[in-house]
Amino acid sequence: MIHVKHACVIGWPIEHSRSPLLHGYWLKKYQIPGRYDRIAVSPETLDSFIDGFAGRGFVGGNVTIPHKEAVFRRVAVADPLTARLGSVNTLYLSDGTLYGTSTDGYGFVASAKQAVKDLDFAGIRVAVLGAGGAARSILGALLEQGVGRISVANRSPERAEAFAAEFGQKVEVVPWHGVETIFARTDMLVNATSLGMTGKDPLRIDLSPLPAHAVVCDIVYVPLLTPLLVSARSRGLRIIDGLGMLMHQAVPGFERWFGVRPEVTAELRSLLEADVMAKK
Ligand SMILES: NC(=O)c1ccc[n+]([C@@H]2O[C@H](COP(=O)([O-])OP(=O)(O)OC[C@H]3O[C@@H](n4cnc5c(N)ncnc54)[C@H](OP(=O)(O)O)[C@@H]3O)[C@@H](O)[C@H]2O)c1
Repeated sequence: MIHVKHACVIGWPIEHSRSPLLHGYWLKKYQIPGRYDRIAVSPETLDSFIDGFAGRGFVGGNVTIPHKEAVFRRVAVADPLTARLGSVNTLYLSDGTLYGTSTDGYGFVASAKQAVKDLDFAGIRVAVLGAGGAARSILGALLEQGVGRISVANRSPERAEAFAAEFGQKVEVVPWHGVETIFARTDMLVNATSLGMTGKDPLRIDLSPLPAHAVVCDIVYVPLLTPLLVSARSRGLRIIDGLGMLMHQAVPGFERWFGVRPEVTAELRSLLEADVMAKK
């Protein structure tokens, strides 16, 4: 009898998740007898769902909004970076223990390296806009890559201040209004706020002080080309969109659950692009 491995994504709501499309594509491509389902888990039922995770036959899964922090507190923490972040997006069972890890930061770095071939993070100066969960994962991963300095600007300055206190002296806080004053000293600009998403305000900043070699990244992927990326491209700057991060953050989980390290290909990107265009 063929053993079908079963993984899932949990969230509340969960209909929007593109993870089933992504993992379903890889399961088919690698002809793996597996399943990946979306499961709506309310905050009230989260504890019992996690307690019964192994009993339901799952090998692992993903965790999305609003459960990333709550699940972190209920599972074994897989690695020091995750311990620092205090949130998980990926679960896996090992010897009967349920582990949680965060792969968003990995996804950001892997996406950037795939999009900009000669990108070397060592010593570069990065400006990060935002201080939410995604910004936190990105900061952790950038520091692991050996960047020289990270300047964080956030609408609510106290959240950025907390980052600086926690992540150490390579991280500085800069004002949200007038953040452009640091752009002349910036090699990479990252939008990790939700501004620019369909239905939200655009991110209104002046990119003209950025040097010509600067790379501009947006982790928002609906729309694919945010107003920020359109503006950066029109200035001739290199751009990295949020879809790459979404695809790459899924790689470690799939490999652990199903035993194959999946490739992020142009075909997969086209599939997700079509889905974003259809449902935006
Ligand atoms: N590409 C990917 O794989 C990927 C992965 C994760 C997240 N994302 C996207 O990244 C974005 C952020 O996600 P998150 O999980 O970090 O969310 P979050 O924890 O809620 O943080 C939201 C961030 O956006 C800022 N923000 C929201 N509205 C704003 C406004 N009107 N003006 C200025 N700043 C505003 C918040 O600032 P305050 O602190 O002042 O509220 C905060 O810094 C979302 O759009 C999400 O879809 C993409």
